[in-house]
Amino acid sequence: MHLLPLLALGAAVLPTVASAGDPNSYAQPDQVVVTHLDLDLAINFPHRQLDGVATLKLDWKNPAAPALVLDTRDLTIAAVDAVAANGKTQALKYALAPVDKTLGAKLTIATPTHPASVRITYRTSPEASGLQWLPPEQTADKRAPFMFSQSESIHARSWVPLQDSPAIRFTYDAHVTAPKNLRVVMSAANAANHPLDGDFRFAQPHPIPSYLLAIAAGDLAVAETGPRSAVYAEPSMVAKAAHEFADTETIIKTAEKLYGPYPWGSYDILVLPPSFPYGGMENPNMTFATPTIIVGDKSLVSVISHELAHSWSGNLVTSASWRDIWLNEGFTTYVQGRITEAVYGKRQADEEALLSARALEKKIGTLTENQQKLAPDPKGLSGDDALSDVAYDKGSWFLRTLEAKFGRPAFDAYLKGYFQHFAWHSITTEQMLAYLKPNLIEKYPGKLSWAEVQDWVYGTGIPKDATLPDSPRFDAIDQERTAFLAGTLPAAKLDAKGWNTQEWMYFLDRLPDVPTLAQAQALDAAWHLTGTPNAEIGMRWYIHAIAAGDQAVWPAAAEHMTHIGRLYLTMPLYRTLVKTPDGFAYAESVYAKAKAGYHPLTQHAIEALFAKARAKAAK
Ligand code: BES
Ligand code: ZN
Repeated sequence: MHLLPLLALGAAVLPTVASAGDPNSYAQPDQVVVTHLDLDLAINFPHRQLDGVATLKLDWKNPAAPALVLDTRDLTIAAVDAVAANGKTQALKYALAPVDKTLGAKLTIATPTHPASVRITYRTSPEASGLQWLPPEQTADKRAPFMFSQSESIHARSWVPLQDSPAIRFTYDAHVTAPKNLRVVMSAANAANHPLDGDFRFAQPHPIPSYLLAIAAGDLAVAETGPRSAVYAEPSMVAKAAHEFADTETIIKTAEKLYGPYPWGSYDILVLPPSFPYGGMENPNMTFATPTIIVGDKSLVSVISHELAHSWSGNLVTSASWRDIWLNEGFTTYVQGRITEAVYGKRQADEEALLSARALEKKIGTLTENQQKLAPDPKGLSGDDALSDVAYDKGSWFLRTLEAKFGRPAFDAYLKGYFQHFAWHSITTEQMLAYLKPNLIEKYPGKLSWAEVQDWVYGTGIPKDATLPDSPRFDAIDQERTAFLAGTLPAAKLDAKGWNTQEWMYFLDRLPDVPTLAQAQALDAAWHLTGTPNAEIGMRWYIHAIAAGDQAVWPAAAEHMTHIGRLYLTMPLYRTLVKTPDGFAYAESVYAKAKAGYHPLTQHAIEALFAKARAKAAK
């Protein structure tokens, strides 16, 4: 559906050397694995830091292992102790290696006695890549400070020292202190009636990979949305959010009907400030969501269907490394479509599938061959390869094609069996394929050849057998757009009164990259797109109007960019502006004002873009 910088931020460059296991982690799971985390955190707003004690329970795999190797980034380590099974502690020698820009600093702890647990006392940096600290002015209600984490892909290591690889799963318990009257939530069961006494406890009894470790704290109110669901948001937002997400229980039930009981107990949604860098993040028990999906008409609730779907595809069955991320995101985008179809209708689901397929068709030819593969060759992986329209849109397109070839009943039974078979495990593409072959492809011969499957997974481009849904409404919009661009249909005569969000997105997506100024002005005069409260429509409108040279939209575009830190909605505006000298200067002035409110990830993405544009201008 769109570009997500998977390993964005300094982390943008994957090591080019393929190593055994996960190249994005220093962990050595063949030596020892963490099975449980006991976390004690004090949230320190004045210093923008977490004071932490992390106790890692260890399962030693190699009796001769000399050390426990952990991932860290910008952590200050105060002490490391062994904790024996009887509770006795003993200081351990440790060394923090020089910082690697991508991976952070490797922490090597000498462990001659193979203790049952190791305890690390540390604090985070105010610049921790996985945390954002907001002063009260940057929140909706402006009454209290706010902080939140975003650990995926490799940012958990910036707030907890651990084995930061999706191949390793652990349970956790946490004790968190915070200023009184604030609420702390985590990626674990949360109690709506918890007293706001500054002292919180959490338990995640299911083994999770480190990228699903999450925390947030702020002035949070709670509204129930169902028997096992609630929405958490700032007080002024909570009623609107509860209205937008009123279908949460229906969404959960729909997924359960397809893939079996929801395995995590409760399912809550946390609405973050608009600086949240993603649309949604599937933290277990508590999806973190951008407020940009709260538009009043439920038209962007697919993000919630998507994050809930990760409860099976991703959180229950996890990709073992970031190279296999399509197992998380492609499968989830497919399940998202199934939920959308059942809850919001086939027209909505087909439109969303078509939007993503058409966007991929446009994009895929601009990618390197390795980037075009669902399962890229890890040897040739470089930073930019980690961009993942392919994981989402080609991945889900592959599964929709499987569904079309094998029929819904057979494919539904297959996928349910797949989730059951690999439940609570982290797997590679090759493990997925080894299960697919006997359980679907060979079970129903003659539907799809193994060579075709291999082409989908390891081939470039979009295979010819890819199936697409019909959308008469999109076809009609194509005709209107063509007539408008040809000058035979004036903007005001477009039949757009009844267009829903996705139909506007489709119309705008398929305008020429650089419309004429007259076309842009006519569209805006007729449909008042500038200033739209719907940021999906706004993003698409502003990039076209800016490219057309319509400087009248700049102030509204600046407002959008300043207010919204979600990468996918804001980066395209910066990217369009930097293409001209005047636009670049304007983008720099917008950024200067907006920067303090942006998440570290967004700051890094924009600064990298500016550096690239400057280098290009200097050539
Ligand atoms: N897990 C992703 C978000 C993510 C991916 C964060 C990679 C960091 C690295 C989440 O489930 C997601 O896909 N979010 C999308 C939602 C959309 C596709 C419906 C988003 O944020 O836009
Ligand atoms: Zn996702």
